[in-house]
Amino acid sequence: MHTISIDMQDKQYDVHVGSSIYETVLPLYKDQLLRADHVVIFVDEVVAKLHLERLLKPLQSIVSNQIDVYELPSGESCKSVETFMACHSFLLEKGCTRKSIVFAFGGGACGDLVGFVASTFMRGIPFFQCPTTILAHDSAVGGKTAINHPQGKNMIGTFYQPDAVLFDVSILSTLPQQEILSGMAEVIKHALISDHAWVEELCSLSTFDELSPSKYLTYLVKGIQVKTQIVEADEFEQSVRKYLNFGHTYGHAIEASNGYGKITHGESVAIGLVFALILSEKIVSLHKGTARKLFEVLSEFGYSFNPVLQHDLNTLLSYMKRDKKASFGDLHFVLLEKIGVPVMKVVSLQDIIWADTQLRKWSKEGYK
Ligand SMILES: NC(=O)c1ccc[n+]([C@@H]2O[C@H](COP(=O)([O-])OP(=O)(O)OC[C@H]3O[C@@H](n4cnc5c(N)ncnc54)[C@H](O)[C@@H]3O)[C@@H](O)[C@H]2O)c1
Ligand SMILES: [Zn+2]
Repeated sequence: MHTISIDMQDKQYDVHVGSSIYETVLPLYKDQLLRADHVVIFVDEVVAKLHLERLLKPLQSIVSNQIDVYELPSGESCKSVETFMACHSFLLEKGCTRKSIVFAFGGGACGDLVGFVASTFMRGIPFFQCPTTILAHDSAVGGKTAINHPQGKNMIGTFYQPDAVLFDVSILSTLPQQEILSGMAEVIKHALISDHAWVEELCSLSTFDELSPSKYLTYLVKGIQVKTQIVEADEFEQSVRKYLNFGHTYGHAIEASNGYGKITHGESVAIGLVFALILSEKIVSLHKGTARKLFEVLSEFGYSFNPVLQHDLNTLLSYMKRDKKASFGDLHFVLLEKIGVPVMKVVSLQDIIWADTQLRKWSKEGYK
C-alpha cells in the first residue's frame, strides 16, 4: 500500500492506494467514524451492483449504526442540480447533521457531485473519497467539486478537500475498455508535464491490456504525486495548477462539441494533448516530431481521432472561448517547452488554425 500525504492550506489528508484498501485503511479512521451520528454512502449505480459489499462490509464492521446507501445515476448524469437536491433531501430525511460523514463511491463524476454535496450540506460535512476509475486518480485529489449547468460543464462547484481518499486498485478490473482509455489519458498527461523517462516508458507499451495491477499501481501513485505537488503549491488555481489543464483547452472543445457521454473526458483530453504538442513545437520549440510520435502511440493504444473531424474549427473555437481559462477573449494554452517543462502561453488565432489543420490532416490520413 502507498500513502501520499496532501498538505493544503487548512487541511492535511492522506490518499491511500493499493489492494484491499478498505479493510486495511478504514480501521485507521475508526475514532472519527465512531464519532459520526450517521454514515451515508453515495454510490454510482453501476459500482453499487459490482462492488458495494466491498466497502459496506468493512465499514459495517466498524460503524455500529446503520449505514445508509443512496444510489446515484451512473457517470456524468449524476452531476445535475436534480441529483444534487435529491442527495440533500436524502441526508435531511435520514436526520443527518454536521456530525455526519458521507462517502463518495464511484468515478470522477460521483466524486465531484458528492464533494459538492458534502461542501454545501449544513455548510460543510466531512467526506471520504473512494474512487473506482483510473481517471479518478486525478479527480479525487485536489478538492475540486462540481455539478454541471445546462450552459456548461463544472460551472457550479467549490474547492473542498476530503478527509481521506481510499483508492482500491483491484476495483479497476471491471472497468470497460473505454474507461481505461479515458483514465490512462490523464496518466499520460501527468507524465508529459513532469517526467521524460516516464513518457518514454508509457510510449513503449503497445496496449494497456497487459498492464499488471502492480504497474497500474505504480502509474497511479506517480500521477497522484504529480498532482499533489502542483495542488499543494497552488490550491486555488492562481498559477501552476493551470498546468494540470494541459491538453484540456482543445480537449474540452472536442468533448463538448461531440456531446458529453458520447466521448469520454479522457479520450477528448488525449486528442487535446496532441493538439497542445503541435502548438508547443511551433511556439515554444518543443523537440520536432514529439506531437506526431504521441499521435501514433495514442492511435496504437486505441484512441480515436475521428472526433476531430466531426466539427469545424469555428465550432471548436466557440467552445474554447468559453473555457474557464480564457480571459478578455485571449486563448491561453498550457504548452511544453520540453517534456516535463510546462508553460502557459497566449496563442494567436493564426497558430490555432495552423495546429488544427495539421491535426485534421493526421486524423484523416490515419497513423500507419
Ligand atoms: N475534480 C477534478 O479535479 C476532476 C478532474 C478530472 C475529471 N473530473 C470529472 O470526472 C468526471 C469523469 O470521471 P470518470 O472518468 O471517473 O467517469 P465517471 O465517474 O463518469 O464513470 C464512468 C463510467 O464508469 C462506470 N464505472 C465507474 N467505476 C467502475 C468500475 N470500477 N467498474 C465498472 N464500471 C465503473 C460508471 O458507472 C460510469 O458509467 C467528469 O465529470 C470530470 O469533469 C474532475
Ligand atoms: Zn481532465
